[in-house]
Amino acid sequence: MTATPRSRLLDAIGVRFRADFGEAPFRRFFAPGRINLVGAHLDYNGGDVLPMAVDRGIYLAIRPRRDARLRLRSLDQGLTVDIEAKDVGERTRPELGWTGYPLGVWHGFQQSTGMRTGFDAVFAGDLPMASGLSSSAAIEVVTALALDALHGTKLERQQLALLAHRAETGFVGVRCGIMDQFASALGRAGQVLLLHCAGPRWEHVPFDPNACEVLVLDTKKPRLLAKSGFNERVAQCATAHEILRTHVRDLPHLALYTVADLEQSRSAMDDLTFRRARHVVTEMERTRDGARALRSHDYAALGALLNASHRSTASDYEVSCDELDVITAAARACEGVFGARLTGAGFGGCAIALLHPGAADAVRAHVAPIYRARFGSEAGFDLLRNGTGPCEIT
Ligand code: GLA
Repeated sequence: MTATPRSRLLDAIGVRFRADFGEAPFRRFFAPGRINLVGAHLDYNGGDVLPMAVDRGIYLAIRPRRDARLRLRSLDQGLTVDIEAKDVGERTRPELGWTGYPLGVWHGFQQSTGMRTGFDAVFAGDLPMASGLSSSAAIEVVTALALDALHGTKLERQQLALLAHRAETGFVGVRCGIMDQFASALGRAGQVLLLHCAGPRWEHVPFDPNACEVLVLDTKKPRLLAKSGFNERVAQCATAHEILRTHVRDLPHLALYTVADLEQSRSAMDDLTFRRARHVVTEMERTRDGARALRSHDYAALGALLNASHRSTASDYEVSCDELDVITAAARACEGVFGARLTGAGFGGCAIALLHPGAADAVRAHVAPIYRARFGSEAGFDLLRNGTGPCEIT
């Protein structure tokens, strides 16, 4: 039998675990990354989003400890951390690096359950890190799932998602919405999550892998503004919401306003605030249309919505960049491509293209030289499949 990339990765995690922590048995868990079909920057505006868990994500080998030490390793990151529970603190610090995500989950878990003991853990991923596919949410969710299993707390999937989300906002300090953690925790094979972030409430809508595939287009451009630019957009949306509340009507979330409401408040808003709000309000319509397109298996209509979403995130929300614009335009020009847009927060990282099954090789052959000629660097291409939710690997 030939080893799959996944079994090789699991073997490598086991080897590292035994080398660093000794022979006693450990348990293994997985949580998926996600792409978001439509609904860019809507989650923190109380809107609807359409993320899909993918077949890649973060794997974790873990063993509980009886004392209060936490030892964390990663196959992908050089930084190792050994820390006593009492030194974890309330917020992450630069020297904790990537371990701020699992430590944030552990911190929230011990606050809500009273459990004080530590663990030994090795993480590894098979999706590009920090590029818009929610590697950080997958690290958080896999940690939450593992702690729940190790301590028998029987949390619901949405409680795992909320624990993971609190780690990101409270401990790590990114003012993100709930989409990534919910997409990972509630992922289901053959389905896309339609998450109404205002509730939150959710339902699953079908995704047909025989009619449509997802190609990830990785610009490999680091998302330099991902944290500062992201938090700035959150603040700009809060400003727009406040103006609409005082000048038009009082609704609990920016995404719930209409284009007509926006027009009414135009004189009270500067151009930048108006454009940020226009992206949010029109993206909400696109997400609703996207769910309808998925239900009727109309991937051409869904693709057109992705294209419109990209335009809006680029011109009104200004979270795209040349690399993302060029790579998505080149993909759109290919036969068999339904549509393409940036995914995740933007500012670099990955885009996605929806395509007819079998079209990926031709798209890669067309897009790669265009990207290389323009930026002098190589883009990455990865065909992702719809994945399951988080699970223990037995
Ligand atoms: C990041 C955040 C999410 C969401 C997206 C943009 O992935 O973590 O909460 O806001 O950006 O849609």
